[in-house]
Amino acid sequence: MNPLPSRANLAAGPYDPMMELTNPGPGTGSLPPRAHLETGLPTRSLNGDWRFHYSESVASAPTGMEKEVFNDGAWDTLPVPSSWNFHGYGAPSYTNVQFPFPLDPPFVPDANPVGDHRLTFDVGTEFLHGAVLRFDGLDNAGTIWLNGHLLGTTRGSKLVHEFDVTGILRAGANVLVVRVAQFSASSYLEDQDAWWLPGIFRDVTLLAQPQASIWDVFVHAGYTVDGVGTLRVEISPPLPDVVASIAGLGFSEVLEFSQQQGGSGISKSFELGPVEPWSAESPTLYELTLATPLQTMPLKVGFRSITVHDAQLKLNGAPLLFRGVNRHEHNPDRGRVLSREQMVNELCLMKAHNINAIRTAHYPPHPMLLELADELGFYIIDECDYETHGFEDGDWAGNPSAEPRYLEALLDRMRRTVERDKNHPSVIMFSLGNEAGTGPNLQAMAQWTKARDPERLVHYEGDWACPYVDVYSRMYVSPAEVELIGRQKEAPLPDQDQDRHRRNLPFILCEYAHAMGNGPGGLQEYQDLFDRYPRLQGGFVWEWMEHGIRQHTPDGEAYFAYGGDFGESVHDGNFVIDGLVSADLEPRPGLLDYKKVVEPLALGISTDWREVSIRNKYDFVDTSHLNYTWVVAGPKGMMSAGTLNIPVTAAGASTTAELPPEITAELAPERVLTISATLAADEPWAPAGHEIAWAQQGLPLVPIVELQIQGGAEAVAQDGNLRFGPATFSVATGELCAFKSVPVNGPRLTLWRSPTDNDKGKDHSQPGSPRAADIWQSAGLPLLQGRLRSMTHDSGTLAVRVRYGVPVARHHVDVDYVWRTNGTLLELTAHVEPSAGWGVSWPRVGFDFEFPGEFSCVSWAGFGPGQKYPDTGMAAQRGWFSASIAELAVPYVRPQENGARAGVTWLELATAQTGGESISFHGEDFSFTLRPYSQQVLTAARHTPDLVADGISHLTLDAAVHGIGTASCGPGALPQYQLAPGSGTFTVVLS
Ligand code: GAL
Repeated sequence: MNPLPSRANLAAGPYDPMMELTNPGPGTGSLPPRAHLETGLPTRSLNGDWRFHYSESVASAPTGMEKEVFNDGAWDTLPVPSSWNFHGYGAPSYTNVQFPFPLDPPFVPDANPVGDHRLTFDVGTEFLHGAVLRFDGLDNAGTIWLNGHLLGTTRGSKLVHEFDVTGILRAGANVLVVRVAQFSASSYLEDQDAWWLPGIFRDVTLLAQPQASIWDVFVHAGYTVDGVGTLRVEISPPLPDVVASIAGLGFSEVLEFSQQQGGSGISKSFELGPVEPWSAESPTLYELTLATPLQTMPLKVGFRSITVHDAQLKLNGAPLLFRGVNRHEHNPDRGRVLSREQMVNELCLMKAHNINAIRTAHYPPHPMLLELADELGFYIIDECDYETHGFEDGDWAGNPSAEPRYLEALLDRMRRTVERDKNHPSVIMFSLGNEAGTGPNLQAMAQWTKARDPERLVHYEGDWACPYVDVYSRMYVSPAEVELIGRQKEAPLPDQDQDRHRRNLPFILCEYAHAMGNGPGGLQEYQDLFDRYPRLQGGFVWEWMEHGIRQHTPDGEAYFAYGGDFGESVHDGNFVIDGLVSADLEPRPGLLDYKKVVEPLALGISTDWREVSIRNKYDFVDTSHLNYTWVVAGPKGMMSAGTLNIPVTAAGASTTAELPPEITAELAPERVLTISATLAADEPWAPAGHEIAWAQQGLPLVPIVELQIQGGAEAVAQDGNLRFGPATFSVATGELCAFKSVPVNGPRLTLWRSPTDNDKGKDHSQPGSPRAADIWQSAGLPLLQGRLRSMTHDSGTLAVRVRYGVPVARHHVDVDYVWRTNGTLLELTAHVEPSAGWGVSWPRVGFDFEFPGEFSCVSWAGFGPGQKYPDTGMAAQRGWFSASIAELAVPYVRPQENGARAGVTWLELATAQTGGESISFHGEDFSFTLRPYSQQVLTAARHTPDLVADGISHLTLDAAVHGIGTASCGPGALPQYQLAPGSGTFTVVLS
């Protein structure tokens, strides 16, 4: 029995590259899609060094190069897999929605780079009784010849294409030629928000496929409400004598195929008795082997069932909560080429940060990723390689989703997605694609998917009426609208039947919390809604990783490049830098916040330190895999610590446990109790002791210093300045010029921050509202300047009155700085009084100070060790911290406001030498930033190497700060986190 269909659909006649590239249909000549199997038969990787020739266009590409005999002696060598832009050919280019070429489907520009790849390889006889050549990913359009025979063409860059090479492959040397064009008609279907990166970027493999071997397998492993595993196996072709066995379950059967469908046979459904079900929390896999006289094929099987009931998505009967991320494939040094090691690192990092779900935005991932997801435990929304967002401009005219001529290509993409990944327990939904408008072709893709795999759900976000999907999915919706959806009170659809259908669907945010630059703000508000309303089943942060490309300055300093850095004429700048981790997998503060917000255990400590409460928020597992530890800390560090015995809490249950007296006895001012839940044993993704969840209780940290002022100090003129206790003031500006022997400039009111990506965004929830950064810019905040109005001294008090204004405008802020001293300590009370005429918000009310650059070390009491803004920093803990000025900074790829430490009651600024000078600030709940360069330098910088220190330590103490929000794509700072211009008083004591 020949497992392979014929090569009949290959275009006859000579190959015409231009015609091929503008054909909107699928590729030609390839075999029907199937699962990515470990076949148990010989395979041979063809990865490695290939000969390579780069041309700027099809017209200028070499001719005749497909011929077996061809002199490629002058060609270069290129590794396969690769994105050729990373090897000196052409340059990467980035666009989000817009196409980098005229919107003129199905045509593409004449300047269409072409990469010709040639490989000569020897094979042994094991491949001569039938073989298949497999390409796992080739961007964008491939034409493939073996030994001078045209095998066919590929369309669908991140999809597998296989070719039958039986009878063409020969013993000894074979010549494989692959021409890759960067653009084709199918580029219109791959308008994802990412770098355009041509090349053979995934593996190339030769697989033996002799007569009477298994071509494809579809394993249906179910889990019943009674805890029983079921198994049905579909095999193509339906060979006799296939023995299926699962050692762990004592199962072994010769499969008989009672049904036949297409070229395949389907076995009966076997009831396997009790099994351990698969879930992301407990990813139990069994090894199924399918043995024929020719091969033994191992398959990892996870038993689980997915259903939708009562507007809830359930796995094995229990509702799920997605703590998800969107994941593109990117490497800062190789483009879209990923190693196993990188994939393992990414997934372990996700697990370690309480992430349980991935949407493979916006194409099927490297096949190995799904094997790892099965093993480590993730819920996957597996998305088809399909996006046409650029058609939105012009109201979706000509959108492929609605154009009959694209139907075949779209069905082909969907089939390739589903068939490749159909055996993975981790894949619980197939997604039709992203941002491809609406149209009957999407419906056809959904119908085909449902018919082929009725046991999974279909997802698509772009059609809000949801007629052919199983979940209602949206992106970047405000918490207010999410709440309405949670209550099933969303605005109705005009069609009543459709409305009823949609209202009974579970809801997910397939994208939210846009992690671009400093942020995302407001994560907690979403999580609170997910917790409250059963219909809301969580979301997927946009996105997991930044797509920075590593570059070096002439003197070797590394930095990440973004759109526009490679001379692109059309690009979308740093919109490609929006991840929870950097391109080299360094966690950004947003990842730490996400970990805290989605922690699967809610711990709470009573204010009297007598009780701890635990709510198990896992969907399946109890808490037996966790240990509990406690630490009491004070200003000098850890004071006592121990472990806690807390009864095991079942999934969904809550417990309260009494804390032992030795903890309760520690309750005192300036002490903080932290209780953590940590892994009791090593997991494949984190070692024993790794923290999963925590809670704190503590009293105010360092109390404000009470000034004992008797009599009060006199202000005396000295060297043209004014001496007041330990401080010297400039009579020209009214600012401090020295404290003790340390030169200082300040305080100086600042209302400005270097705009974050979110400050620069358009608040989606307030259509038409101006961007926060524009409001602040047009109010003149970057140009705020002071005028000393008066400086008076009276009974131990120095009063400095300054008016701050901006050029052109009348609006201003008056600040009365009132200083008191006892000779050693210096107290500042600053009263801020704005005039009318300011805009709706200010980014901050802060006071700038400048110290000599050697003051580069800080210690503080407050939240740390990381940054915190009003709507971020959930990961920050109360405590006592130290850092160098460099450690305070978050190296955002496009520099912007960062690094604020909040809730501070004490701050000490010191030089790096021990015993050197230091200055302390005591206050009540302020924030600070400290940087070796000014806000102007931070604002002007485009990349991290632009941040050049100026020899000054720039300290800003903030009385109030505006929230961060996620307006870079989504809602801005929520009303409760906005800072409206207003009066206020800020007090701080210097010592
Ligand atoms: C969404 C889109 C993503 C990404 C994101 C913004 O609209 O689906 O691919 O572009 O916006 O970063």
